[in-house]
Amino acid sequence: MTNGIKDHIKAMVKTMTLEEKALLCSGKNFWQLEGIERLDIPSIMVTDGPHGLRKQAGEADHLGLNQSVKATCFPPAVTSASSWDEAALYEMGQAIGEECVQEEVAVILGPGTNIKRSPLCGRNFEYFSEDPYLAGEMAAAWINGVQSQGIGTSLKHFAANNQEKARLVSNSVVDERALREIYLVPFEKAVKQAQPWTVMCSYNRINNVYSCENEWLLTEVLRKEWGFEGLVMTDWGAMNDRVKALKAGLELEMPGPDPHNDKKIADAVRNGELDEAVLDRAAERLLTMIRKACEVRKKEYDAAAHHKLARRIAAESAVLLKNDGMLPLKKDGSYAVIGAFAEAPRYQGAGSSKINPHQVDCVLDSLRENGIAFEYAPGYELEHDTINQALMEEAAACAKGRDGVIVFAGLPDSYESEGFDRTHLNMPESHTALIEAVAAVNPHITVVLLCGSVVLMPWRERVESILLACLGGEAAGSACADVLTGAVNPSGRLAETFPLSLGDTPCYENFAGEGKDVEYRESIFVGYRYYDWAEKPVAYPFGYGLSYTTFSYDTMDLIWDEEAEKGEARITVTNTGKTAGGEVVQLYIGKKQSAVMRAVRELKGFKKVFLQPGESQEVVIGLDKRSFSIYDTDLSGWTVEAGTYQIYAASSSRELRLSRELNLQGKQLSGIPGYDVSEVIKDGRFSADREQFKRLFKGEIPLTPAASGITLNTTVKEALTSEKGKALLGGLVEGYSAQYAGEDDISRMMLSMLFDMPLRSLAMFGAVKIETLEEIVGETGTPPLITGRGLSLLLYLR
Ligand code: BGC
Repeated sequence: MTNGIKDHIKAMVKTMTLEEKALLCSGKNFWQLEGIERLDIPSIMVTDGPHGLRKQAGEADHLGLNQSVKATCFPPAVTSASSWDEAALYEMGQAIGEECVQEEVAVILGPGTNIKRSPLCGRNFEYFSEDPYLAGEMAAAWINGVQSQGIGTSLKHFAANNQEKARLVSNSVVDERALREIYLVPFEKAVKQAQPWTVMCSYNRINNVYSCENEWLLTEVLRKEWGFEGLVMTDWGAMNDRVKALKAGLELEMPGPDPHNDKKIADAVRNGELDEAVLDRAAERLLTMIRKACEVRKKEYDAAAHHKLARRIAAESAVLLKNDGMLPLKKDGSYAVIGAFAEAPRYQGAGSSKINPHQVDCVLDSLRENGIAFEYAPGYELEHDTINQALMEEAAACAKGRDGVIVFAGLPDSYESEGFDRTHLNMPESHTALIEAVAAVNPHITVVLLCGSVVLMPWRERVESILLACLGGEAAGSACADVLTGAVNPSGRLAETFPLSLGDTPCYENFAGEGKDVEYRESIFVGYRYYDWAEKPVAYPFGYGLSYTTFSYDTMDLIWDEEAEKGEARITVTNTGKTAGGEVVQLYIGKKQSAVMRAVRELKGFKKVFLQPGESQEVVIGLDKRSFSIYDTDLSGWTVEAGTYQIYAASSSRELRLSRELNLQGKQLSGIPGYDVSEVIKDGRFSADREQFKRLFKGEIPLTPAASGITLNTTVKEALTSEKGKALLGGLVEGYSAQYAGEDDISRMMLSMLFDMPLRSLAMFGAVKIETLEEIVGETGTPPLITGRGLSLLLYLR
């Protein structure tokens, strides 16, 4: 943006009234920003993503109830991250950007790059990884792709938003090292490498401060340290204290309109509580974005090309977990295809990211087109997770005597969704029992898993091959067929560890918290960092994945310029098999002798290469000072500890192929608090107590202070424990409990959201006016009854 335009925007803000500037700071409706006719400022549109466009058709209604326009449903982040291919993510972003251009959407609300702290988080399918480096690279590539089309993105949910339970009010209690080294890194990388137009603050509090009003997070870290140039908006309904949020560095409240808060802003300027310069700066940032959005000219996209791309990315992201020779399928074989998911694949997650796809490919059709002969039996019902004996017996009969059986299984919608977390890692009984029943009649089984997060596989020794197809987007069916038949050689690698049991996960004892507080006691030991530190066996390690070919790691050279504090690892890799294929060369760094608590090794670089049979290639992975640093909370900065580092070229976090050592001058570190393995692992489980956790903080642990009486942040569940709350909310809760009595994903999401909702959000969902609530909360008299009719939680039915 030229200086001329910047001056013009500044001058325009000077001509605006206080009310006009405040008006810009909240949305016009659910999906649009305010414009100002008098000044020719148009209203631009933002809509959900991130694995496609979810633009609601027709007028953007306040409730978000309208069906969204057709768009390409690309593989969600759980899948695309397994590609470990930034180029693919960039292409996906580019294509989604093109769809935004055609649909006149200025900003797409994604990517979601929160860390997968626990495999139980209901929204993990929307996030990339348990590893911050990988998550950051994927997010940055996607943003760069979208923004290359002149369309903005919204990096979300900033930050430490790692569960759905009580998501509007939860308090993520995280020590600073864990925040800096794990939870903030994906955002930091994405901001520095891609400058998203906007960042979306999360609903939750971090160490007791709501993200929307967290000045340290939004101004000190995001803008001052990382150099963020765009604007910050709330997640939908994440606003707590409007004036405080503006001061902290949050410009836009969504959705809108919010005349009550707009007035608070104007009043605060008038009474001297808020410096008008802060509001002017917010208005300038908003106008800057609106101006950028207006530079794009409408153009049609090529839906067929996008479908093809969705198929390529889905196939490239599939992870082959096991193969005792059954794959690829043989053209002259006679197979059974079992599992209702083969007919109706689960291809995306539920909630705000749900895309209305152009078409959904069916694997049965694609296998037929590829000349594979098979018979199909559904084996289980899609609507229920209990065993249907007749369907199971029919499936077993169909499987008997075949050359091989391909079973499609995984997680139904009702098992994982935005809005609630899982409570276990099991697949439905109807799926696991089916695999066992088929295994009893035919040992030649391939299981294709369609799921958005980790599942346990107690049956894995009884099957020959396992293909993790995750959630493949609208081309999931054809992409699966591509990999099963060998048209595409699988090159996906796990972006998260598959543990052997839920009890093995590092935050088992602290997910998803008691009440509102969630103590991240495992600190930096997330995912493989924990399993390696605790020496825990796992089902499949982070970074793992097989191929139809093999690769050798031949040589590794390490170059380091001590003065420039930069270097690179050069690794030569060869395709030693007979099939062309892709390998993900991963670079991990560890330090065996260290005065600080640290992971055994951490991912600090990777590169995906595609090699013909017999072909070798030198892979170059850059390193810098940060690759070796830890966050020193005493110095409030990144520091390299002096001594010897181990650098590994690896094909997973546990398959270390080559290693080198490097001595760095660095600093002698001491006094940085941490845990010893022996003190926090009890009976094979991570179990730090409050006192041990306290050591990681400089003072007291920032837990939620006890509230006296009902406040705007009291949840419905909490309010119902008092007579006043019952009187206020009884009608509403009864109405909704009756309406959503089912076991499906929508009912579970609705009820869990309702009970965990703070009273202030009831206003956003239209149940009551915020002014009424503000009056009620302080008083002792009998409040008016809020009834179910008023609450438009239905907006989540999208
Ligand atoms: C979700 C966001 C989403 C927004 C708008 C929120 O509930 O957390 O990810 O972008 O709704 O639909």
